[in-house]
Amino acid sequence: MNSDSDLQIAGDILEVPHLLQPPREHPATVAEFVGLARSVAADRTQWEHLVEYDATTRWYHRLHTGPGYEVWLLSWVPGQGSGLHDHGPSSGVLTVLEGTLTERTERGTRTLGAGGQRVFAPGYVHEVVNDTLEPAISLHVYFPGLTEMPMHTACARRTGSEPVDAVTA
Ligand SMILES: [Fe+2]
Repeated sequence: MNSDSDLQIAGDILEVPHLLQPPREHPATVAEFVGLARSVAADRTQWEHLVEYDATTRWYHRLHTGPGYEVWLLSWVPGQGSGLHDHGPSSGVLTVLEGTLTERTERGTRTLGAGGQRVFAPGYVHEVVNDTLEPAISLHVYFPGLTEMPMHTACARRTGSEPVDAVTA
């Protein structure tokens, strides 16, 4: 029976620098995009001073762009919502930074408090709304960057899918 562990066979990887992955400047995997969102969420100096609230229309601000992805900051006053939509060819990571948002999909309703995250693939259909009496702030990473946000109707999915200007959610 071979009692050598992988570590004994390979030695200490930290002593073999050429085997280590070089740190990436930009995220390239779902886990790395989630990590990017978490790091932005944890550093309020990156976004807190930028946030505005607009009672007439949802406020959004492109916080950051990188190769193949975009990071958006959104605010939601009580009652504001996205409507039912998908994200065209984009995948995304939604992270609540402050307050509480409700996500509705065909599978049900989910409440996301600060730090709550959702990861979605192209074709994912949801509606996001601030059902509370306090404003909310969220961070949205899209890869590739959001180019369309087709709207859906609740009773006839995939209808009303005329591409509209990308308004993030
Ligand atoms: Fe969305």
